[in-house]
Amino acid sequence: MTYAAFRSIGAYVPEKILSNEDLSKMVDTSDEWITKRTGIKERRIAAKNEHTSDLGMKAAELAIKRSGLDKDEIDMVVCATISPDYFCMPSTAAIISTKLGLKNITAFDISAACTGFIYILSIAKAFIESGMKKNILIIGAEKLSSITDYSDRSTCILFGDGAGAAIISATDNKDEAIIDIHTGADGKYADLLMTPNGGSGSAHDAIDQETASCFMQMKGNETFKVAVRTLTKDVVEILNKNNIENKSIKHFIPHQANYRIIKAVGDALKLKDEQVVLTVEKYGNTSSASIPMAINDIYEQGTLKKCELMLFDAFGGGLTWGSALVPFAPIK
Ligand code: UT7
Repeated sequence: MTYAAFRSIGAYVPEKILSNEDLSKMVDTSDEWITKRTGIKERRIAAKNEHTSDLGMKAAELAIKRSGLDKDEIDMVVCATISPDYFCMPSTAAIISTKLGLKNITAFDISAACTGFIYILSIAKAFIESGMKKNILIIGAEKLSSITDYSDRSTCILFGDGAGAAIISATDNKDEAIIDIHTGADGKYADLLMTPNGGSGSAHDAIDQETASCFMQMKGNETFKVAVRTLTKDVVEILNKNNIENKSIKHFIPHQANYRIIKAVGDALKLKDEQVVLTVEKYGNTSSASIPMAINDIYEQGTLKKCELMLFDAFGGGLTWGSALVPFAPIK
């Protein structure tokens, strides 16, 4: 039997920091309000000429280097993003592949908003277990500043830019195998979090589409309530299904949307503070990039060790949600 192993991690964040203080000069808000309601202190913003593919490429370079693989051994690249370099095509995955100098590969993007990383992890697992591919580069990359309305205080305080990448490889060692992944979606909640303009469902006609903004809009408070409910239910289900107790989870790595959501889910699961990975304070919400960026943080701090069990949990526009039980399985 062939299994899928989570071999390596990498991440990249742009240099520029946008603090709560900076935002309070742009919209009617304050450091106190943002900190209390979200836990966010600052977020990163990409330069004008720095595209989502540039962020993804830098994260990917690190993940490839740490995997010990030669570039030529990578046979597929999948990118999760809601802020691609170009609307519709070409895919950001194809652009990243070329920037990395990868050849003879399959490359495509998927759109599952903040759950994107868990979706691409499930795609990689399926391709590997079916024997179709051997070494897959998955990337969550976002330049959310390009779809954020900086005159809307209810959204602009939340989002930031960044990227995270991982290598998922075939193995015959069951101890290294990704244990389980759950994914779900329900379009009846589509209007809670969306970019209403610019697509074929938009109210704008073809000419207007050129100038129509692709800014995100969110019904924050309603999204918050569905998020806590769905995330908790999903995590309980994946743990029960696999007979895994809370205490066996070394690192709970949730999507970093809001400290209060993470705290509510962590408390419902009776997790200890040291089990919960938090980066929301310094990066804000980076959608599909938030989970791999958080994994990279604990890797670089030296607190993520070989064979330790990680639990991922995410929720986002669509609505989409997902969870995954993943042992960290580097070669060395
Ligand atoms: O990543 C994908 C999923 N996304 C999420 O999970 C995000 C979920 N939602 C949230 O994180 C929270 O709902 C927010 C942080 C977006 C908002 O926090 P909230 O506690 O739900 O606030 P609210 O929307 O109920 O607004 C409370 C008040 C309102 O004023 P009134 O009507 O009570 O006078 C807002 O106008 O806070 C006001 N407000 C602000 N005040 C200062 C909204 N945004 C701001 C702001 N600064 N930035």
